[in-house]
Amino acid sequence: MIKVMEPRRLKLAVLASGRGSNFVALWEAIQKKELDAEICLLISDKKEAPALSKAADAGITALFLDPRSYPKREDYEAEVVNQLKAQEIDIVVLAGYMRLVGRVMLDAYKLKIVNIHPALLPSFAGLNAQQQALDYGVKVSGCTVHFVDEGMDTGPIIIQTAVDVYPDDNADILAERILVEEHKTYCKALQLLAEGRIYIKDRTVHIK
Ligand code: GAR
Repeated sequence: MIKVMEPRRLKLAVLASGRGSNFVALWEAIQKKELDAEICLLISDKKEAPALSKAADAGITALFLDPRSYPKREDYEAEVVNQLKAQEIDIVVLAGYMRLVGRVMLDAYKLKIVNIHPALLPSFAGLNAQQQALDYGVKVSGCTVHFVDEGMDTGPIIIQTAVDVYPDDNADILAERILVEEHKTYCKALQLLAEGRIYIKDRTVHIK
């Protein structure tokens, strides 16, 4: 069994491609002292991502890195890693980051990159998870916080929260219900990491 990290005040970097509500929820939890962490940096791969201005408004360094300015994914990720290392980041938090993470980042931050997905994995990985859940006709969905590996939403699961699905839901309504739980679940998972309570054996995460 491997202990993922010793207890400490986490230095976080958030990677986001869009709205940034998970970023805001984490930032608010830190202000309320519910999460023992500091967000040092927000990086976006999308120039117009509202997450960038939300971070800047909170006084956090907000960086747009354009993947199209780099010849290969490896070069882009090398620059992301440079920025993360410069800030001595402990944990990389993917929050609506719509890009597969490759070997360069995974090797630099082994078991230190986490993601939130709006479904109960391994069901409904990938895009439009809420619509996938509705199309399948499940009665329960939810959200999953997991370590990131090379696959699409396939890494070891840290915690999950279930949410009821109702017959007259549409994707927006279900997404909104799940999002409320995402914000709490992400804070909870990161606080477990800050408390040094996360262990892993094979692909199973144990919380002590
Ligand atoms: C969240 O619902 C998150 O779970 C999802 O994108 C949204 C981002 O919202 N992520 C994925 O679907 C990744 N596969 P936010 O920008 O407001 O945090």
